[in-house]
Amino acid sequence: MGILFLMITKGVILAGGRGTRLAPATRVTNKHLLPIYNRPMIFYPIETLQKMGITDILIICGDEHAGDFAKLLGTGKEWGVQCTFRVQEGSGGIADALSLAESFAENKPIAVILGDNIFDGDFSDASDQFSVGAQIFLSSVSDPERFGVAEIHETGTVISLEEKPEFPKSSLAVTGMYFFDAEVFRHIRNIIPSERGELEVVDVLKKYLTDGKLYATQIFGNWTDAGTHESFFRASALIRKLSGLSDVQDSEYVLPHITSGVIVSPTNEPLEAPLRALLFQKGNFTHSVFVCIDGGTDEHQIQWKRFCEKFPAVTLIIHPHEKGILASHNEILEQKEGDFYWAASSETILGDPYVFSKILQKTWDSRSAVFGGKVFEIQKNERTEILASTGIVRGRGFSFYDRGIRESDRGQFDEDSEPLGFPIFASLYRTHILKKLGGFDETFVCGKGDIDMALRLREAGYRARFASDVRIFHPNRFSGPRSFWKHIQYFFTRHPQVSEQGYQAQKKLIEKHLSRYRWQTRVFGKMRLFVQWCAIKIISFL
Ligand code: DAU
Repeated sequence: MGILFLMITKGVILAGGRGTRLAPATRVTNKHLLPIYNRPMIFYPIETLQKMGITDILIICGDEHAGDFAKLLGTGKEWGVQCTFRVQEGSGGIADALSLAESFAENKPIAVILGDNIFDGDFSDASDQFSVGAQIFLSSVSDPERFGVAEIHETGTVISLEEKPEFPKSSLAVTGMYFFDAEVFRHIRNIIPSERGELEVVDVLKKYLTDGKLYATQIFGNWTDAGTHESFFRASALIRKLSGLSDVQDSEYVLPHITSGVIVSPTNEPLEAPLRALLFQKGNFTHSVFVCIDGGTDEHQIQWKRFCEKFPAVTLIIHPHEKGILASHNEILEQKEGDFYWAASSETILGDPYVFSKILQKTWDSRSAVFGGKVFEIQKNERTEILASTGIVRGRGFSFYDRGIRESDRGQFDEDSEPLGFPIFASLYRTHILKKLGGFDETFVCGKGDIDMALRLREAGYRARFASDVRIFHPNRFSGPRSFWKHIQYFFTRHPQVSEQGYQAQKKLIEKHLSRYRWQTRVFGKMRLFVQWCAIKIISFL
């Protein structure tokens, strides 16, 4: 039996709500009437629908400025569309606004677009293929906690949906374009308001998910919402760019440079995969990669020289006599100091080609610092008090300094230790140092081993995030008596699973563990901050 595709001919733009996140700009007008670069916000969703061949459009607007919408848009003749208006009283949520479209839909499938969503893509093909159920469009973002988030199975089916989750299960945000069949209005009648008192669109989608009728497609074009000051600004920048103007003045536009250093012990087996993963990182940055061989016999050095010849983009540094890891880092930095320094161990696996790009996206314009697993002493501008770690370090003027403490990898959760035990001291110390270093407001940790660090830092009242979509895998050494087993283990471990499942498992363990100590946390209250301060002082003194 063939599938019947029903052309979508009707579109609904949801432009209600109070736009409180854009206050005070929304005090005397509606969010969707504010300009995004050179035109009112509402023009963009109209154009997206119009591109799909939809000419019959219902605009749901708030009660306060309804007249202004009609004044601005008229009948829609300017775009060759027919605009109808309905007023939503109050701001009962997206699904509440959509419920007003029932008579307009006339039991036909509809395309629904949020009035503050800007897309540059074309949904015509998807619309032509839509038949029943609900269709959502997902986009990978760096801040999924701001959106509805979908967890997707390898086969592309939706596993779960969550609205603004604290710990997103993926980086896939549900964008503000939805296709619904006529069942949507029955589902809306069967949902209840969320904690924030709104009828959530995600709850409607969950009904479709339960019925096995929710379909998801990932989009790769430009998309942004414009509901917060930051995203509003981004939306204007996007429209400006799409109109052919560059992001910033050309003369000011400089790509960030990443210096990557891999320091290998000469007796390591040449590890091709990690180096390839490093070299094939994609994104808007320039990159230089150094491999440093620290000491070893002539034979070892020749072996490494031959190995590196396969990678013309790699600069090889050979230390005839061992100088130590930290001196090697410094030598690399002397040769090429980047805006970011990435120190990878020879067994670090970058699970996907966009790791650097994702990290840069999250940190380049924000006050975030990034660090990975291990702690080293670091020296900046002649001062030696600073600790940093492997992973990406942001900023210039770094050099590593070994005061004998060497590294202390305390990222991994250890059930026997206390919540304020050494692991948290290490994390706090690093945060403290990073703050000192750049005045960063937020610490960003990535890599499986650092999940608990993010959670512990949050427990201690810091702003810290785990980059769940940045996949970095540190298997233990591939040498020694258990190396064969490690190879087998590694072979059967898929990186995304290491990250996703490992994250969930770690999160559960840590939360369970921390909850045992909740009363101590409460009792000690402010004293905890004092304990942390003392710990920092003691560690600095050592
Ligand atoms: O931008 C995509 C996101 O939009 C989705 O990932 C989320 O799942 C979805 O809930 C929504 O999240 P927001 O927090 O950004 O929704 P916001 O309250 O900003 O509403 C988005 C648009 O929906 C807004 O421009 C107008 C319309 N709306 C909203 C409310 C609360 C209404 O028409 N009526 C309303 O009562």
